[in-house]
Amino acid sequence: MSESPKTIRFFSGENIPLEMHKVRIVQKLFLPPIEERLTAVRRAGFNTFLLNTREVYLDMLTDSGTNAMSDMQLGAMMQADDAYAGSQSFERMQKAIEDVFGKRLILPVHQGRAAENILAQSFVKPGNVIPMNYHFTTTLAHIQVNGGKVVELVHDNALQIKSDNPFKGNMDIAKLRAALAKEGKNVPFIRMEASTNLIGGQPFSLANLRDVAKVAREHKIPLVLDASLIGENAYFIKLREKEFRNTSVADILSEMCEQADIVYFSSRKVSSSRGGAICTNRTDLFDHMKALVPLYEGFLTYGGMSVREIEAMAVGLHETTDESVIGQSPSFIAYLVERLEKLGVPVVTPAGGLGCHVDAMGFLPHVPQTEYPAGALAAAFYLISGVRGMERGTVSSIRDENGNDVLADVELLRLAFPRRVFTLSQVKYVEDRLHWLYTKRHLVGGLRFVEEPPVLRFFMGRMEATSDWPEKLVKAFRADFGDSL
Ligand code: F0G
Repeated sequence: MSESPKTIRFFSGENIPLEMHKVRIVQKLFLPPIEERLTAVRRAGFNTFLLNTREVYLDMLTDSGTNAMSDMQLGAMMQADDAYAGSQSFERMQKAIEDVFGKRLILPVHQGRAAENILAQSFVKPGNVIPMNYHFTTTLAHIQVNGGKVVELVHDNALQIKSDNPFKGNMDIAKLRAALAKEGKNVPFIRMEASTNLIGGQPFSLANLRDVAKVAREHKIPLVLDASLIGENAYFIKLREKEFRNTSVADILSEMCEQADIVYFSSRKVSSSRGGAICTNRTDLFDHMKALVPLYEGFLTYGGMSVREIEAMAVGLHETTDESVIGQSPSFIAYLVERLEKLGVPVVTPAGGLGCHVDAMGFLPHVPQTEYPAGALAAAFYLISGVRGMERGTVSSIRDENGNDVLADVELLRLAFPRRVFTLSQVKYVEDRLHWLYTKRHLVGGLRFVEEPPVLRFFMGRMEATSDWPEKLVKAFRADFGDSL
């Protein structure tokens, strides 16, 4: 019997992404009525980050720290070795990183952005330029805080919502060469992000990564790989890149890491645990960074993590090479994306990793970008379903020096699929309610800020509706669903 999560064909002809796991620990969920959800979303300033999970039915905010843990991970947590220095748990983590990523020098940190802090403080100087396929919010913030700038080098068509490009996360090598010709001396490192988060969890190919690494070597510039979503990217390489059809995910992962001088990651994502790390085989780079770990994170053998988290990370990293683990959320995402497309709901294609990404500008063409269509769609979808997604658009962007919004390239509602957390009937619920909202999309209006933090405003910022559209939506819901939740 195959362990692969590839879809199973039913007698009826339907293809179903059958679960290759069983549920042994469960958590009770609540679905408050829509009137309570209206109160909740108002109280949260139309920002889904500020909702409480008691107010949420399906939490599709993120996969960060919310992937289901395995029985093996929980078992390992019980035999953790508590020690400030020289813990055996750290040795096990080191071995797992060496086995899976092929890097032997490890700097542990408390989460992904802590790795970015150390990288940026160590290598980014004012006026520096960091070429990357695409930015992530926390990466950009750390580079900017240190006086650097980001240039994004995905191909022009990567931002097209509907596409059959299997590798939208690829870096355009001609653009990279041009950027290095212009800024070469100012470039401390080149960054590639696996399963490029903000453009819809889109992978790069291994051929492209090899090309980027070759250019980096020619210019003697280190290549940094953000491996927070590397498992999904490796899975897509196996699925979509001919050369690797018969290569194991484990071998793809290690070849990906081999291309990079530095690999860093958020363990909240990659290994279904907590924490993170920076790893390399280059002593010069390691020595340049290591003094900052005790300053910001903790001693070099725990880096701000509990030993239990370290044990869970070690096991989780190995499990990331198991196709039935790593392929589960991509196969559910593909299922939902395919069904939404058939219903005419605008979604990012091809389906990527991390989540289903709904195109808010296609969904709400009447809401201008300055009124945050992705934020409005996230709030509206929570209101009518109790499902909490995340805004990934202009609210997640920044303001320029004149105080104007830097309009995001894409306005997306991200519905994250933490690994092995949801059932298929829950996915069908998401499909059904999103379909209904699409038929009522003309009712949804915009948002404006009432409280706006200066950095990473999307986390804590508060907004209000620009009209009484939330009340109108509640009325339409009641008209169609009666007293159903
Ligand atoms: N890099 C990528 C590609 C990420 O997706 C994240 C986090 C980080 C770095 C930062 O890691 O959260 O452990 O500090 N992404 C989460 C998300 C927050 O919801 O997509 P962290």
